[in-house]
Amino acid sequence: MATWSAPGKVFLFGEHAVVYDKPGLAMAIKPRVLVSVRRHRHPAPAKSPYIAQCFRELGVTGSVYVSSQMPSSAGLGSSAAVTVATLSAANDEFRLGLEREEIAGIAHRVEQAVQKGRASPTDTYVSTMGGLVLIMDGARRRVPPVNLNLVVGNTQVSHSTSRMVELVAEERAARPAVIYPILDAIGALTLEGVRKLEDPKTLGKLMDTNHALLDAIGVGHPALTKLVLAARAAGAFGAKTTGAGGGGCMIALSPKTGKNRIAGALDGAGGRAFVTSLDTVGARKEHDV
Ligand code: PMV
Repeated sequence: MATWSAPGKVFLFGEHAVVYDKPGLAMAIKPRVLVSVRRHRHPAPAKSPYIAQCFRELGVTGSVYVSSQMPSSAGLGSSAAVTVATLSAANDEFRLGLEREEIAGIAHRVEQAVQKGRASPTDTYVSTMGGLVLIMDGARRRVPPVNLNLVVGNTQVSHSTSRMVELVAEERAARPAVIYPILDAIGALTLEGVRKLEDPKTLGKLMDTNHALLDAIGVGHPALTKLVLAARAAGAFGAKTTGAGGGGCMIALSPKTGKNRIAGALDGAGGRAFVTSLDTVGARKEHDV
């Protein structure tokens, strides 16, 4: 049996704008998803379509045990983490000799197949490689790691990423003169954010601006606004929606001390909060569970 884990992710900047080839910055975060794979000729059918597709892609059969501390369907990349950890564990168990880059590529294909072509390579790449990843000019590259104190707030309002992407496409088609420059500005914020990673006060301000621009393109939600305002009032340097919006999660950038106060404020405002930080490792082998 082989056990591997893979982290989730948040967008620090640039969600939606990346769909239109503008820059974005994503970050691998704790918690992780753990997956054990055991060689098995006649395994029970996989419970998750992602896992079933992983085995189809690799042309092997095995039984799988998943342990996840990550909320699913919240925009934190849990399906990508399950996919990456499954592929990594199967690669190990069956000695397939796949490199990390190849696993990221196959993981993206798996998500594409399950999500009917609507999956960007961001989640699977970030989960495989870990760290901070700048998406730019059709490529993804890691930027030097920085220790950011983040608090994630889950509105627990369910949302559909593909619906939100569609909504932005409709807005953009209906009001190009308004929406095009906003998407450009979001891309510019990403690049400014990369330059200011070591300056949390400025970074927080940039996050606030990014949040306002996400609202402006129509992916806001009252529950997100409530959590973002609560985080700022509790001392966050800045706060924004992360991911597709319309529900799902927000992130707050916290001073070194004060993370728990912000998390408490988010819980008090009706969210479910957890403190997190950068995961620099990506997919990794674990002791068998
Ligand atoms: O909700 P999430 O975390 O899957 O983020 C979606 C991010 C978008 O930019 C809206 C879409 C994408 O594929 O990049």
